Formats: sequence, C-alpha cells, structure tokens
Amino acid sequence: MEKLDLLYQGKAKKLYATDDQDVLWVEYMNQATAGNGAKKEQIEGKGHLNNEITSLMFRLLAKRGIASHFVKQLSGTEQLVRKMTMFPLEIVMRNVAAGSFATRYGVKEGTVLSKPVLEFFYKSDELNDPFINNDDILALELATEEQLEIISAKAREINQALLAIFSSIDVRLVDFKIEMGITSDGMILLADEITPDTCRLWDEQGQGEDSEAIEHLDKDLFRRDLGSIIPAYEEILTRLQGLESPEA
Ligand code: C5P
Repeated sequence: MEKLDLLYQGKAKKLYATDDQDVLWVEYMNQATAGNGAKKEQIEGKGHLNNEITSLMFRLLAKRGIASHFVKQLSGTEQLVRKMTMFPLEIVMRNVAAGSFATRYGVKEGTVLSKPVLEFFYKSDELNDPFINNDDILALELATEEQLEIISAKAREINQALLAIFSSIDVRLVDFKIEMGITSDGMILLADEITPDTCRLWDEQGQGEDSEAIEHLDKDLFRRDLGSIIPAYEEILTRLQGLESPEA
C-alpha cells in the first residue's frame, strides 16, 4: 500500500490517500488540544499510545461482533482505515454524569445515571460543536431517519461492549464520544478513534470503598491541568494488552 496526498489534518490525526480508493492512511500526532483548540500542546508519545490503544479497541470490539473502519495497524503511529463519508456528528454516550452533562443539568460529577444517555453534537469548529437533537439532525438533513435509528442502536450496542471491556480491566467507563460514517457500499460503521482522548475513564483499582477522589486515566488530566496524560494512557494500554495476551 502506498501513502499518497495529505487529505485532511485534524487536531490529533492526519489522513492521507492511498493507492486504494477505499482505504485511508492515518497518522496519529502528538498534539493535544482542549476547548476547541484554545489549549494546545505537543506531548511526546501521545500519538503512539493513541494509535496502539485505538487499534486494540477496534480489535476487541470486532471480537464482540462490532465492525469498524479499522483495517490494520502499520506502525507505532500509523494505521489503515476504510474510507467513509462521515456524518458530521459527535455521538456521545454517558453512563455517569460528568463534563458538559454535569454542567448543563447542575448534577454532581460521578452521579450514576439511571439509564445510559445518548447525545449528539453537531461537528462544527466555527459553531463550537453545539448540542443537537434528533429533529434538528433530520431537519438539517445530516442523516435520514433510518440512518439515525441505526446510528443510535449501534451507539448503545458499542456502549455495552465498551462497558464490559473496561470493567474487565477495572476501569469505569463514564462517557465517550464516537463518530460514524458510511462506506462506499452503504454500510454504517464506527469510525474515528476510541482512546483516552475521547473517553472518560476512571480508575477503579486501589480505590477505597468510600474514596471520593477520582483517578482520571483520560484527557481530563490535560483539560483540567491535573497532571501528565502519558502514564495514564500507558496504564490503559498495558491493561488492555492483558486482554489480548494468550493467557487472558
Ligand atoms: O465534554 P463532554 O462532557 O460533552 O464530553 C463527553 C465525552 O465526549 C467525553 O468522554 C469527552 O472525552 C468526549 N469528547 C470528545 N471530543 C469532543 C468533545 C467531547 O472526544 N470534541
């Protein structure tokens, strides 16, 4: 496979064309951003860790019957994925109140939600990714009713699979953001990435029964200036690798 022109540079990844029109070459970068790019830093090793973690996550999901755009890992920081037409939506699933949900509704972070919450945000840097509801999505023709039903069902199914995966490594899956797209042959698939950049992951190891302290193993460490993300991302990768080892 040959790497061709740079097609798109996002905040954390570069996408290149390849000699196969259905396949893209992804390069994970070390850049970390928060607040729609307001805070920006180069963090040595981040691109490598996220490429490893998301490759592993897509393999673990595939074992549970959840298909994604992932084709194969090429190197420490590169992977091949299927080319998709993306829905301009950030699809967020929440199990525990945190972040913008906790702020919007005035709920204490850490409050367990009585049912998983599915939310959509309209992907637009200019508009700051606003919250968007199902009728808005249909009225703006960002997806059809049938597509929205498939996206929603898949998001909930992915949440159940991720909850099982993370609970098996003693990590609480608080919430996460995914993206989906359509392949050239019309299949709606999970795309983008699943990493500690896009999930809130709270450590459950070594937490006393009544400990109120949250051990973040995710990008909130960077967003909230709580410490280095690298040891946390390494911890997630090491625990996930345990699930793929032959003894596991
Ligand atoms: O900030 P908020 O609470 O809405 O984030 C919900 C989830 O979506 C978090 O896990 C966060 O990491 C993820 N997210 C993301 N990219 C964004 C916004 C949120 O990955 N642009």
